[in-house]
Amino acid sequence: MSPKSIAILGLLMASVSHAQPATLKDAFQGIFRIGAAINQSQFEEKDARGDTIIAAQFNTISPENALKWESIHPRLDGYNFDPADHYVAFGEKYKMFIIGHCLVWHSQAPRWVFQDDQGSPLTRDALLQRMHDHIQAVVGRYKGRIAGWDVVNEALNEDGTLRKSLWLNIIGEDYIAKAFQFAHEADPKAELYYNDYSLENEAKRTGAVELIKKLKAQSIPITAIGLQGHDQMNWPTAAQQASTIEAFAALGIKVNITELDVDVLPRTAPGTSADVSATSAGSAGSNPYTAGLPDAAQQALARRYAELFNVFVKYRASITRITFWGVTDGDSWLNNFPIRGRTNYPLLFDREGKPKPAFTSVISTAKEAK
Ligand code: GLA
Repeated sequence: MSPKSIAILGLLMASVSHAQPATLKDAFQGIFRIGAAINQSQFEEKDARGDTIIAAQFNTISPENALKWESIHPRLDGYNFDPADHYVAFGEKYKMFIIGHCLVWHSQAPRWVFQDDQGSPLTRDALLQRMHDHIQAVVGRYKGRIAGWDVVNEALNEDGTLRKSLWLNIIGEDYIAKAFQFAHEADPKAELYYNDYSLENEAKRTGAVELIKKLKAQSIPITAIGLQGHDQMNWPTAAQQASTIEAFAALGIKVNITELDVDVLPRTAPGTSADVSATSAGSAGSNPYTAGLPDAAQQALARRYAELFNVFVKYRASITRITFWGVTDGDSWLNNFPIRGRTNYPLLFDREGKPKPAFTSVISTAKEAK
């Protein structure tokens, strides 16, 4: 090729790359998977704006609610598989790595799960049987199609002790190991995860490390820890994020960031909890950005996302997946947590589905890594 045609080719390539802006999944190809939690109108392809973003940007999906116990198994004798079937079919259509969320959790599980037909607490054996049957039915139905499961969600308190849930109170400590065993039996090839929030705080992280060590010592098949990543502008610090990833990677498991978002609104209560029951009342100053996010806050969010992704990219050998909890800002649970009815801006796409400065800063961390 002559120097002139090389120059023309260069110009052509530059214009092609200009015409097709980078996508998250392409930018992080070979680094880690990038995903989003999706809602029912998205996996039923009724949200054209959201669906366009999902298909273009992500290569893994999580179900925001469709596979939680109360949704998929609302009555003792009745499963509601239809939404989950659509979710899995959507994932297959777009060749996604499909996540199941979640099998055993204290929240969004109906009260009957823990009671006999008289309303009295179940015995240990009866609750284990119920857990087994649920896992067998749900994991078994999507065997070979759902690639990874959040088996146990949020079993720990902030101080690292086991949460006194009905699972723990009725079955005892081994409910966690049993849940993993049942899931493994139902689909021996599926990846199995323990998922929780605030593991970047030392006490809770220490509890989780002990828990994983115990499971590994019993040869329980656990593939990865899920760090939910419901982050704030100044928590966790980059150093906390890094040491958390290191602590779990050192146990010989992978690390996934499973529910990433960054809350930009003022907190009304101290602490970093993403406990879904920790709601509080609003006050005059608690919803400051109803008319839009000011540029300074927008730029600060972009820097914050770059800070987090620089850590994730640095630990790419340990991380297999980063999943955002929602697609656009309008979809986010953080518009209603911990205070209902606020206008939050925690994700990479705005309410019109346009990429925000934070999107560009996240992509730039991938470019620097390559
Ligand atoms: C927790 C759960 C998720 C979701 C979020 C908030 O992190 O794991 O399923 O409910 O809370 O929406």
